[in-house]
Amino acid sequence: MSDPTEAAGGATASPGATVGPDRAVVWWLALDGLGSGDWPRLRAVLSDEERTRADRFHFERDRLVYTAAHALCRGLLSAVTGGPPRDWLFSIGSHGKPEVLVPGSAPRLRVNISHTRGLAAVALVVDHDIGIDVEWLDRHPHVDDLAERMFAEQERQQLAAIPEASKTEAFLRFWTLKEAYVKAIGKGLSQPLDAFYFQLDRPGIHFADPTADDPAHWYFDQLRLGPDHMLALAVRHPAPAKLTVEAGPAPLPYLLSLAAEFAASDEEAPGRMSRR
Ligand SMILES: CC(C)(COP(=O)(O)OP(=O)(O)OC[C@H]1O[C@@H](n2cnc3c(N)ncnc32)[C@H](O)[C@@H]1OP(=O)(O)O)[C@@H](O)C(=O)NCCC(=O)NCCS
Repeated sequence: MSDPTEAAGGATASPGATVGPDRAVVWWLALDGLGSGDWPRLRAVLSDEERTRADRFHFERDRLVYTAAHALCRGLLSAVTGGPPRDWLFSIGSHGKPEVLVPGSAPRLRVNISHTRGLAAVALVVDHDIGIDVEWLDRHPHVDDLAERMFAEQERQQLAAIPEASKTEAFLRFWTLKEAYVKAIGKGLSQPLDAFYFQLDRPGIHFADPTADDPAHWYFDQLRLGPDHMLALAVRHPAPAKLTVEAGPAPLPYLLSLAAEFAASDEEAPGRMSRR
């Protein structure tokens, strides 16, 4: 992969985004742009089950980013199709991947979310497998140890040639691409991460077993979101060159206005969010 594109900070994604088999949308939401009054509104669009899950987090930062990610997902689904954000239902795949439940005649919406310290993101397309991963760059994972245990030999060699000061960022570039792929195929970490690899200076994925999957059917993108975050997107597509991706910061005023009507009828939400 070439160096990740630095995402434009100011351009907010359009609430009128369109999505289709050849058109994906990615929205992200930085939590430092949210005020305390915004949280009850975002919470208001979650399902009862999501609220219960949110309340189980021990740390407030985990609860908030979970709330943001799920509100963002529901907001994007409603932005592209209309309909109340709380009404979306999901099924869960055998390895935990949520899939939107849509009526048989409607376009088959495919969605994936990711959350990390300070940032939530969602990716949406029609029909195709899609996966997204965001990571906080200031984390200091045990790069050599994790790479030794989980990465392919080709990736370990690339990392070994990278100066120490840039190693964590390079590791997280590999990591986000690999997570985006395993999330797109729905297997999560049940998919061995050393069965495929990326090259930071060349596009595309490579498979240790060439019959395992077809690199020509994968689209990858990587964005650097300011100083703190890295994002990777993976889409399985029959003709990746035909796919366009509209990616940008989520339109927060739209999300909040969408949520406002639910917040008004949700008396317990503000108390719960502010009590912890
Ligand atoms: C679950 C997993 C697929 C992604 O985990 P993650 O990177 O921690 O989390 P993300 O925020 O990117 O994604 C989580 C979301 O992906 C979705 N998801 C869950 N299982 C999934 C699967 N098998 N496939 C695709 N998406 C999945 C869910 O919507 C989940 O959000 P929710 O729990 O709020 O409902 C899995 O790969 C995992 O557990 N990874 C471990 C992460 C880790 O060790 N990171 C260290 C980095 S140095």
